[in-house]
Amino acid sequence: MRPSNLAVRMRIAATAAALGATLLAGVAAHAAEATTACLELLLTRNYLPPDFDQEVFDALWTTWPEPLRSRAEGATPEQRRRLAMERYGLDPHPDDPSRSLQYVRGADGSWTMSCLACHQGQVAGRVIPGLPNSNYALETLTEEVRLVKVKQRKPFGHMDMGSLLLPLGTTNGTTNAVIFGVALMRHRDAELNIIQRPPRFDLVHHDMDAPAWWHYRRRTGIYADGFAPKGHRMLMQFLLVKENGPERFAEWEDEFGRIEQWIESLEPPRWPWAIDAALAERGREVFANHCASCHGTYGPDGNYPERMVALDEIGTDRVRFDSLTLKERGDLNESWFGNHGRDIASLRNREPPTGYVAPPLDGVWATAPYFHNGSVPTLWHVLHPDERPSAWQRTRSGYDQAKVGLEIKTAAAPPAKLPSAERRTWFDTSKPGKSAAGHDFPDALDEAEKAAVLEYLKSL
Ligand code: HEC
Ligand code: HEC
Repeated sequence: MRPSNLAVRMRIAATAAALGATLLAGVAAHAAEATTACLELLLTRNYLPPDFDQEVFDALWTTWPEPLRSRAEGATPEQRRRLAMERYGLDPHPDDPSRSLQYVRGADGSWTMSCLACHQGQVAGRVIPGLPNSNYALETLTEEVRLVKVKQRKPFGHMDMGSLLLPLGTTNGTTNAVIFGVALMRHRDAELNIIQRPPRFDLVHHDMDAPAWWHYRRRTGIYADGFAPKGHRMLMQFLLVKENGPERFAEWEDEFGRIEQWIESLEPPRWPWAIDAALAERGREVFANHCASCHGTYGPDGNYPERMVALDEIGTDRVRFDSLTLKERGDLNESWFGNHGRDIASLRNREPPTGYVAPPLDGVWATAPYFHNGSVPTLWHVLHPDERPSAWQRTRSGYDQAKVGLEIKTAAAPPAKLPSAERRTWFDTSKPGKSAAGHDFPDALDEAEKAAVLEYLKSL
């Protein structure tokens, strides 16, 4: 595979049929060779120890419930791999569909999780660089890998062990990633030397929906509460397994400098269907009056204010905010990851966070579900706070063009007594950290204004 055209191929792969000409033109324009080589790093470099091998992956179907198991049993090996990728929310690599975009497959057949596990997904079947993986079923994958490893008498890896200590993700498409970081940082000093300490049992577990990478360039601070200054070191937290000592971090710094540049270069995808231009123009005015003070303005002279909104004003789920102490935020910034406190100078909001930062909204049509916890399935539901479903289940790649977001089924609550893998296909807003309440600002608009804003949001 020549790296130079990979980004182009990725977009084309899942998309050929429905892809609009504008989207293709946009890709060709920024698929510069150097930056694409950075994507190649994420697709081919093992920064972590392997999670499982090919033999384990190919036997995962033996753990599935009926009728899926029988379907897999009667299928060809290729079909079976496709079923497995569907079940775990993975996407086939366009050059070799037996590999996944989200895991690095080594020459020895090993599969290793990469950043793309959470940060590379599809929308309406299209793979777009930097789009979060809103289908990833990490916990189900890990559980079933463990079952197969026991049968095949293979040792457990770090993810298998980690999942015995903490939940990995209780709803597909979201993960407990923030707390992975906190749990791992407990065993490091500021220079990332490994220190022995008992694990903590008071962590506030909660699942997060990964943000789109094309917003990175707009921000000075990252994460829902914007407390962490940007920087390639900050992006390396995910590599904190015990196998990676401080020297590995130093060795990989340059590569992450290049990865950061690539993330910085990503562009939001354009809405690929028709837009009612007159309606969108009315929506732009409504947006300017009701939304832009927090979310900024768009187009050539666009300006993003990176505004911090206090918790009682925003009213969305507060668990993410409460899960980190001031000390944990400070320790991270004072560590090697934050250049020992030096990077903080680049933050626009330097005071400790009081809530969540209003995110940029470019490409927002593609990044459902919404809010930091992924609790709201469509933009229509963002705009209609009283109609947000208390429980919903998405289809694998169905897209609701009218409501702008995920195609879903709703219920008052998920069906009772589901097996755990099934239960994770439901988003249950009654669970801790999963509230879909808050952000009631759209209540100030009438129905016609909401329809206009919805049309405008498609154009960002
Ligand atoms: C297990 C899932 C997962 C993996 C793996 C992962 N991330 Fe993330 N990432 C997240 C989540 C969730 C957030 C949001 C955290 C928050 O807002 O508190 C995030 C946030 C980010 C952001 C900040 C974006 C913003 O605008 O605020 C960047 C950049 C990022 N990750 C890069 C990476 C890189 C590079 C890697 C690999 C070294 C990686 N991530 C691995 C889940 C993951
Ligand atoms: C007072 C500031 C403020 C105003 C006014 C505001 N928002 Fe927001 N908005 C936020 C914050 C903060 C979040 C993040 C909430 C979270 O993730 O918990 C957000 C989230 C969103 C999201 C979800 C983004 C995502 O990627 O998950 C959308 C869509 C959105 N707002 C649209 C609007 C629209 C449309 C308006 C005007 C009708 C509006 N907002 C008015 C602060 C604001």
